[in-house]
Amino acid sequence: MALRRLGLLRPLALNRSIWRSVSSGHAKEQYSEDKETHFGYENVSESKKADKVHGVFQNVAEKYDVMNDLMSGGIHRVWKDHFISTLCPRPNTKLLDVAGGTGDIAFRFIDHVMAKAGPSYELSKVSPLTLEGATDTLDETIEDSVIPYEVVICDISQGMLDVGQKRADEKGLGGITWVCGDAQKLPFEDDIFDCYTIAFGIRNVIDVQAALEEAYRVLKPGGRFLCLEFSQVTNPAIKWVYDQYSFQIIPAMGQVVAGDWKSYQYLVESIRKFPSQEDFKEMIEEAGFRRVTFENLTFGVTAIHSGFKI
Ligand SMILES: C[S@@+](CC[C@H](N)C(=O)[O-])C[C@H]1O[C@@H](n2cnc3c(N)ncnc32)[C@H](O)[C@@H]1O
Repeated sequence: MALRRLGLLRPLALNRSIWRSVSSGHAKEQYSEDKETHFGYENVSESKKADKVHGVFQNVAEKYDVMNDLMSGGIHRVWKDHFISTLCPRPNTKLLDVAGGTGDIAFRFIDHVMAKAGPSYELSKVSPLTLEGATDTLDETIEDSVIPYEVVICDISQGMLDVGQKRADEKGLGGITWVCGDAQKLPFEDDIFDCYTIAFGIRNVIDVQAALEEAYRVLKPGGRFLCLEFSQVTNPAIKWVYDQYSFQIIPAMGQVVAGDWKSYQYLVESIRKFPSQEDFKEMIEEAGFRRVTFENLTFGVTAIHSGFKI
C-alpha cells in the first residue's frame, strides 16, 4: 500500500498506451489476394498464406511445447538458452518478443534478468520508464511494482498466447504484456524497445523484409535485433541425415503426437524455403541495421542473427 501511495505501482509492460490497437493478430488488409507467395512448397496467394499460417499455430498450440521437445530431442532449449546469453539483458531492459508464442524466449529473458538483478534488487533501481502509466493501477501487487524488466510478447495466434499466458500464471510471472499482432505491422509506437527478439517466427512471416523494417522502427536508437531461426546446413553428409529426419520422421511424429501431419510438413518445408545465413544477413542490413553478424548453431540447423539500430 505504501508503494501505491508513492505511485510506484505499475511496470511499463502493463501500460496499454504503448500499443496502437489490439484486435485480431493478422493485419489482413495488407495481404494481397493476387500476389503469390509460398506456403512450404505450395504456391498460394498472400492472403491464403496468412490464413494457413494462422491455422497451423492455432492447431498446434496445445501440443506445441511437447512437440518442440520431441522433435529436437530437447536441443531447442539449448539454442534458446544460448540465444538469451547472447542477448545478455540487464535489469530494466525493455523487450519486445515477436512471434513469442508460448513464451519460451520471454521466460528465459526474465530468468536471466532476475538472476542479474539478484535477491537484493531494490526499488531505487527501477528505471523511470517503469513508472510510466502509474495512474490507473489499483489492483497491482507490491511485487509487481518492483519487477526489474518490461516484456511485451506479440504473436498473431491468440491460441499460442493463451497457452503462454497459462504457463506464465503457473510460473507466477507478472510484468508481461501479451499482444495479438502481426510482425509485419506491429501495433507499437516508434523507438520504444531496447531489444527485439524473434525465435523461430520470422520464416512464417509473409513479407520478411517488412517485418525487419518494423523491427527497426520500434527499436530505440542503439537497440538490438536478435533472431533465432532454422537455417541452412551446408555439410552434405549432415544435410542428408537432417533431411531424412526432417521429411521422414517429423510429420509422422506430428501426426502421432498432435494429430496433425500437415502442420509439421509445413514446418520442414518452410525451413528449406528460408534464405541462407548470408542472404538473411543482407536483408537485415537492408532494413537499416548495422554491425550485423550471425552465428551458426548445430552445423547451421539454426542460426542467430544480430544487428543494431545505430
Ligand atoms: C514456431 S513458433 C515460435 C514460438 C516461440 N518464439 C518459440 O521459440 O517457441 C512461431 C510463432 O510465430 C507466430 N507467427 C507466425 N506468423 C506471424 C506474424 N506474421 N506475426 C507474428 N507472429 C507470427 C506463430 O503464431 C507462432 O506462435
